[in-house]
Amino acid sequence: MRAISKKRLLVENQDSKEKAKNSWYWSVFDFLLRVSFIRSAGLKNALDIRVENVELVFDNLPKGFDDVRILFITDLHFDGTKLLADKVLNIIGTIDCDCCFLGGDYTYGRNANNNQVYTQIEQVAKLLKTKSRVFGILGNYDLYKTAELLEGHGVEMLINEGICLERKGDKLYLAGMDDPSHYKADDIVLTDSNSWDNAFKIMLCHSPAKYKESAEAGYSLYLTGDTHGGQICLPGGFVIFCGPTANRKMVRGRWSCHGMIGYTSRGIGTSRIKMRYYCPPEITVITLKNGHR
Ligand SMILES: [Fe+2]
Repeated sequence: MRAISKKRLLVENQDSKEKAKNSWYWSVFDFLLRVSFIRSAGLKNALDIRVENVELVFDNLPKGFDDVRILFITDLHFDGTKLLADKVLNIIGTIDCDCCFLGGDYTYGRNANNNQVYTQIEQVAKLLKTKSRVFGILGNYDLYKTAELLEGHGVEMLINEGICLERKGDKLYLAGMDDPSHYKADDIVLTDSNSWDNAFKIMLCHSPAKYKESAEAGYSLYLTGDTHGGQICLPGGFVIFCGPTANRKMVRGRWSCHGMIGYTSRGIGTSRIKMRYYCPPEITVITLKNGHR
């Protein structure tokens, strides 16, 4: 795992001096939900986790990786929702996969100071390690110490770096970028520096924001989260607020850009307010397919 970057260190130090605060409009929104009696439904919705099975087809996927199943979980924010970690552990215990990706945002606040959330994160890492290799990145709510904790439990943290994965005599390049939004710690040049000509490349980045750079650098797949799928949506799943790092097209599900396929998970937890409406939490199982088989 790469050492903490100067950019991330600076922001983490600044954050530790500031008192965590929630914007006044989220408090007003929470109050309105409370008086409209739909708050309890929103809290219940936040525990209604769905497993999304997604098949992604690539003409250039190395044949050795055909049918590979990736378990992708992101935006856990465990300390925001009671019982969420138990539910996640139960569900992922039943899923078979060839590798696991963790997309960042493990805690609800940036300075989560209860030990329980870190114990829950450890439990997830340990369970996933019984299944396969596990790779992780950091999100906009994560401190570098969370990467150290996960790495200590065998998760291979990718912080502006990439590695070669081999299967059945073929290989691909898996890259992970540091958070580009709050910490502004992303570095595509460093992240891509170990790749090789004509490699099939997968980018793991917490936010969709770096899709253009990744497509230009020749990535075929971009896996991301951060948006929570909109989290508070209207009936039919109509998105009210995309978040600052995504456009409407990339707020959830499959999308494409300049020949690169992207997938944005709705994520597991919540942020700002602890409710979800018409946007259930998601655990994703992605099957990679070679289009020429
Ligand atoms: Fe998040």
